[in-house]
Amino acid sequence: MEIKLNQANLAGVFCDVLIVNLFEGIKTPGGGTGAVDKALDGLISSYVIEKEAFKGKLNQMYVLPTYGKIPADKVIIVGLGKSEEFNLNKVREVSAKAIRKAKSLKAKKVSSILHGAGIAGLDAFDCAQMITEGVIIGNYEFDKYKTKKEDDEKNGIELFEIIEIDSSKANDINAGIERGKVIGDAVNMARNLADEPACEVTPTKLAEVAKSISGIECKIYEKDELERMGMSAFLAVAQGSTQPPKFIHITYKPQGETRKKLAVVGKGLTFDSGGLDIKPANSMRTMKEDMSGAAATLGIMKAVSQIKPDVEVHGIIAACENMPSGKAYKPGDIIRAMNGKTIEIDNTDAEGRVTLADALHYAAQLNTDEIVDLATLTGAVVVALGQYASGIMGTNKELVDALKTSAEKGGERFWEMPFYDDFKDDIKSDVADIKNAGSKGAGSSTAGMFLREFVGNKNWAHIDIAGTAYIDKEIKELTKGATGAGVRAILNYILSI
Ligand code: BES
Ligand code: MN
Ligand code: ZN
Repeated sequence: MEIKLNQANLAGVFCDVLIVNLFEGIKTPGGGTGAVDKALDGLISSYVIEKEAFKGKLNQMYVLPTYGKIPADKVIIVGLGKSEEFNLNKVREVSAKAIRKAKSLKAKKVSSILHGAGIAGLDAFDCAQMITEGVIIGNYEFDKYKTKKEDDEKNGIELFEIIEIDSSKANDINAGIERGKVIGDAVNMARNLADEPACEVTPTKLAEVAKSISGIECKIYEKDELERMGMSAFLAVAQGSTQPPKFIHITYKPQGETRKKLAVVGKGLTFDSGGLDIKPANSMRTMKEDMSGAAATLGIMKAVSQIKPDVEVHGIIAACENMPSGKAYKPGDIIRAMNGKTIEIDNTDAEGRVTLADALHYAAQLNTDEIVDLATLTGAVVVALGQYASGIMGTNKELVDALKTSAEKGGERFWEMPFYDDFKDDIKSDVADIKNAGSKGAGSSTAGMFLREFVGNKNWAHIDIAGTAYIDKEIKELTKGATGAGVRAILNYILSI
């Protein structure tokens, strides 16, 4: 799908579907929607609003055939909700909902008003970015394994245009579209990797994807090298599987000034069966998504390679499978992590933190200012926050606060979890320095506390995306399935530096 600006009058554009909007409670539309209403001899005001009682509630939609009154075949009127509650996140959301509606109408060419830039008075660059993100994210479908019927072949939107006649806004809109494309594509890249089954997305595949990102350095460490480096914690988790582990380190360095150096670490369990502490069938069912942190990291690095910020960014992934077998690590095993600390394996299903122990230590050895990890780490965070927020905790308040703000801007939510020193008590081991699972509740906080042992004195934030990386129903711009959680938040954070 191509996305571009078309400097034209809304009422004059040739397209299959023309998207306009309406705030809640408006009886006589103004601006672009008003112009279309006039060209339609008042059909929107006198029929859709008056007779059909279209209220303009957020995401409410009305499909109006134009019967040749204007060049567009159909008009979709999308509700923007209450004007006082409107914001940029809603621009993204309504754009996604409207594109899915247009798709269901089998439209090929879709044109849209620049939501938000009219009476709402939002910035044209921001609006264009949000619309583009919404359209790209909203149009995503993981359907490559479904055999296409002849009809389907012709489906899919080919062209999406933002219509704006005011030429003084063109530069901003074009720049917003470019930014939205990079971010939207990064989100979908992460979703696609997480939606692919574990038989396709193996650690080897993640390494190949990392290598394929152009314009950045990429180093893949193989098993024998990792042994020499002392990554015994990561390798212990990997040892039960026939899939070889891969440790991925991607680096983006700015050409000129470097404002900050950041490491992004993603949990990369391409499948988590639980290991010998095997998961029940229901819990194992979606564990192909246990590499969502890694997928987000790759999406972020791809976008960074395109945006080229003045920030050095390292993407780090310890990729492996957690499987039961004659070679698998066992409950009671004691392992020495790369940083020298010993870990008693209390539960082989608390494997993510064991892989992250070495990945975080590796990151902490780099000359960076901050570390952020993204991990589908605990079922406990799903109990606490459900699908609507990721949990965040860390060693530095400014970093945690900045990430929360960046998440909000990206249409995500990071909710701060308690991170009291007391939680350290819950992961004390009788026989080793630390054990890999607590037993007294607050599972996401004890998991975070375990990770803290491996970041040294770095500024670090941990984001638990177990509940948000994969959703079982449509939420706002996102459809059911993988969400790319963390991508927009971290990219906004990088852009804010
Ligand atoms: N990958 C899971 C966490 C998870 C749960 C992700 C649900 C996505 C959805 C993690 O490896 C895990 O199994 N955690 C255990 C830890 C426990 C054994 C201490 C959990 O949360 O049950
Ligand atoms: Mn697990
Ligand atoms: Zn896991």
